[in-house]
Amino acid sequence: MSDSYTALRELCDLLNGWDRAYRSGRPLVSDAEFDRRYDELVELERKTGIVLPDSPTRRVGSDLSSELAEEAHTIPVLSLDKVYSVNELVAWMTKLRSDHQQDLVFTGEEKLDGVSLVVYYQEGVLARALTRGDGRVGNVVTDNARTIRSLPLKLAQPVNLVVRGEVFLPKDRFEEVNKRMELPYANPRNLAAGTLRRVKSKEVAAVPLEILVYEGFFDEPVASHCAVRERLAELGFPLSENFRVFGAGVEEWVQDLTQKRKSLPYEIDGLVFKLDRMDLREELGYTGHHPRWAMAYKFESPQGESTVLNIEVQIGRTGRATPVARIQPVSVGGATITNATLHNQAYIDALELGVGDRVVISRRGDVIPAVEKVIEKATPQVWQMPKTCPSCGSPLEQEGGHHFCRNLDCPDILRYSLSFFTAGDNLDIQTLGPETLDFVFEKYGVRHPEDLYTFDWNRLLEEKGFGVKKVKAIQESLEAGKNKPFKNQLSALGIPELGPRTVELLIENGLDSWDTLVQWLEEPGAPRLLNISGFGESTVETLRKWVLHPTLQKRVAALREQGFSFRLEGETTVRSSAWADQVWCVTGGFQRFNPRSLAEEEIKKRGARVVGSVSSKLTHLLVGTGAGSKLDKAVQLGVKLVTEEEFVKLLEQNPLE
Ligand code: IVH
Repeated sequence: MSDSYTALRELCDLLNGWDRAYRSGRPLVSDAEFDRRYDELVELERKTGIVLPDSPTRRVGSDLSSELAEEAHTIPVLSLDKVYSVNELVAWMTKLRSDHQQDLVFTGEEKLDGVSLVVYYQEGVLARALTRGDGRVGNVVTDNARTIRSLPLKLAQPVNLVVRGEVFLPKDRFEEVNKRMELPYANPRNLAAGTLRRVKSKEVAAVPLEILVYEGFFDEPVASHCAVRERLAELGFPLSENFRVFGAGVEEWVQDLTQKRKSLPYEIDGLVFKLDRMDLREELGYTGHHPRWAMAYKFESPQGESTVLNIEVQIGRTGRATPVARIQPVSVGGATITNATLHNQAYIDALELGVGDRVVISRRGDVIPAVEKVIEKATPQVWQMPKTCPSCGSPLEQEGGHHFCRNLDCPDILRYSLSFFTAGDNLDIQTLGPETLDFVFEKYGVRHPEDLYTFDWNRLLEEKGFGVKKVKAIQESLEAGKNKPFKNQLSALGIPELGPRTVELLIENGLDSWDTLVQWLEEPGAPRLLNISGFGESTVETLRKWVLHPTLQKRVAALREQGFSFRLEGETTVRSSAWADQVWCVTGGFQRFNPRSLAEEEIKKRGARVVGSVSSKLTHLLVGTGAGSKLDKAVQLGVKLVTEEEFVKLLEQNPLE
């Protein structure tokens, strides 16, 4: 307990010190570093149940200054929930649409990077201006606000009104003003924040602050966000220019604004998306911190600092060796990160990374965290790929940018090959989950696909957790696997270059069995293969190496003995290729596609594949009402989400010939 107490005490002191520096406009650390330690404190407080009296978590996001008077807000001054990728953003919209109403209209606008200000007007006259403070109480900065030229002091109509806006310093003015400062500020936001909280308004007036407003709270009801903006403009308030109303097309707009960002005269750090209709906003309501009807999309992905504890090499199904950094656990954007992929030696060389180095880790809106850069080297050395496979000890061979283990009996390769064989896209043996496979691999030596068919599964009846029903289900699904189409049988072998799409291409070009494939590869110059568009020398070379390898020949023979045909049997090969490279999954309920197999049929007719689970191979998730874990996973993986409405449009745009 006393250890926890010391840790809490130290973290509180550290954060409070950083907080003071931040408030004075001169932060000591980056926002990301602050957030990281803050998250650490939140976690520690949760674990220990202790919240010290001066813990910064007791006043969430407060920017109160003790030198200024405080007053209570008459509206709740909340902040925004945030996402870091367009996919997460679209998923949020999709979810709101599926939970509430399909035709929700969203607006998009700039997320200004300045200081939040709440201005109260009484009968059309600026009465007081407060900083956000802790959301309940703010600092009174009325005199300072009056120096902002773009903020109207008196409105054309005698209305009672509260506006929220962002005070900032245009980029070009920042350079100019900062030069005059005794102690220069790091960026326009800090300068604006420092200025707005000055005690002497004369000093404030010397800094050309500006404001753009984004929310208005009127006495009389206003129907929509668009109408609020119109009203605010009419009353003489400055509004940011980049504003849009969306049904669809969010992705393009985000891209467009990301590009425009640099050329804007002021800093923005993201975009804000809001529900347009006020009655629906009310219906959705708020969490403790933010409205459920708005979402900030931030340009910069969250980052954290950590230390590389070790670099390990993982061997994949094809034998490719991928270095992975094990790092000291660090919270980045709300997730604890312990591993980051390092791709290959060239990637490591470019980073000049070694074990022990201090690094910046980022989550770029997807699940796989990346090492962005080295900030402190522990050793002058750069990590080098080992000469031998960590799993089986055979030499690693370099091919292109990657290293490979070429031992087809390497335990890691076997393990991955086995789970690939049974995976959803291949033989789809869902009763054999990774745990069962690992178990029989270790304990019963089930190493190869053919072993799955010679192993006596009844032996598992003696094991804990396996009953008659379960074992029977495994046996039945293994049996069913034998009758899978030729293309699944072939791709299940996990031969590099022989994924489902290539297999389909081969079938379209006349491939009808494994033996034909062998024959095509043995023909001098392999003309049957090289004549297929998309097939080059290197693909043929790889196929030759694998398909003609005795291990694979034996495997196919053994599987045939068990009842696999490895031959095309009355399967249709003609299909549209409009969506040929796409892999779809369908989840939730639909109005027009009920049952949802109707939607799946439409997808298949256009040449895409439909699978039952969400994996990194998925390109599209069709999301209906009540979607759950599949949607969450797809969001994490950055899969494109498609609503029913968008889907109907896509079908119209891609009619069947
Ligand atoms: S709406 C309840 N719109 O971002 C609605 N906020 O991280 C909350 N901000 O505290 C605010 N541009 O200071 C809104 N177009 C915009 C904004 C914006 C910048 C700031 C604001 C807020 C913070 C939330």
